[in-house]
Amino acid sequence: MESTRSRLIRLLSKSKESYISGQTLSEALGISRNAIWKHMKDLENDGYTIDAKRSQGYRIVSFPDKVSSNTIRWGLETTWMGHHIIHRTSVLSTQLIGHEAARDNAPDGTMIIAEEQTAGRGRMKKNWFSDKEGLWSTLLLRPPIPPNKASELTLLAAVALREALHELTGLSIGIKWPNDLLIGDKKLCGILTEMQGEQDRIDYVLIGSGLNVNQDEASWDASIRDIATSLKIESGKQWDKKEIVQRILKHFENMYELYLEAGFQAIKPKWEEHAFKIGENINIKTFHQAWSGKFLGITDEGALIAESPDGTPVTLYSAEIAW
Ligand code: BTN
Repeated sequence: MESTRSRLIRLLSKSKESYISGQTLSEALGISRNAIWKHMKDLENDGYTIDAKRSQGYRIVSFPDKVSSNTIRWGLETTWMGHHIIHRTSVLSTQLIGHEAARDNAPDGTMIIAEEQTAGRGRMKKNWFSDKEGLWSTLLLRPPIPPNKASELTLLAAVALREALHELTGLSIGIKWPNDLLIGDKKLCGILTEMQGEQDRIDYVLIGSGLNVNQDEASWDASIRDIATSLKIESGKQWDKKEIVQRILKHFENMYELYLEAGFQAIKPKWEEHAFKIGENINIKTFHQAWSGKFLGITDEGALIAESPDGTPVTLYSAEIAW
């Protein structure tokens, strides 16, 4: 059940500019006006700035500069996505928390965020290094689409994240098939999609994203330093993770609603516009073999089309590409 403190913050967050009287809050929460006053003092001690006016009541002026379900809710511009946030200090993987939450009937659009992961998972069963400087999150969706279309959401996620991060930072960010975000040729963000469902029906999809935010080059050992980058390294400044989450949710909600309305054909040109190496030679590694060929584009479902060594186009649903 939601705590009184959290309900209090939710009420105050709804009316950002105007004051709510102690009496209204006490009636809405079923606690005394004195108890409301004590909550306000606690909030101030935790870094909130509260504006209290004798004749008008209370208003939150600013939130502490840290990620929590309450700080994200304040200023969140979505209509439904991210309205339920699960925030943890340290977890094995936000994907595991996502599976648990989905089984416990967490609502569509639930966002799970962890400060640190001790067993972060990447694509192709790789480990994902997840220190305290990054943004490690999983978005739970319950899309009304057949399972064979779930991979389209992976590409959609890359488009939404790219757009959000570009709008916020101004950095030039590209997409590497299927869904890595790169700056130059270094990885900024990786996306992992997991699906649970039956043959003809998706129960839920978990879209995990690992975004490097405030890491310095010294944060990583040499093996990572050569292939990864962070928003801080690229921009020279520290970023507020809650602002990033809010921006991502806003773009994700818009992109997802566009997809549900108009299908992947509305997303594909956006993906292609920022894709790396279309029309150029890439190295392709599949389960069976490695070869190099021209990257011709993607299909209407988001699969990779490459020119094989004998000149024929080949469609690949799963592969690793490099250059
Ligand atoms: C990749 O291999 O590029 C995908 C990496 C995905 C990492 C994210 S971090 C949040 C979520 N939890 C995980 O364990 N993995 C994903």
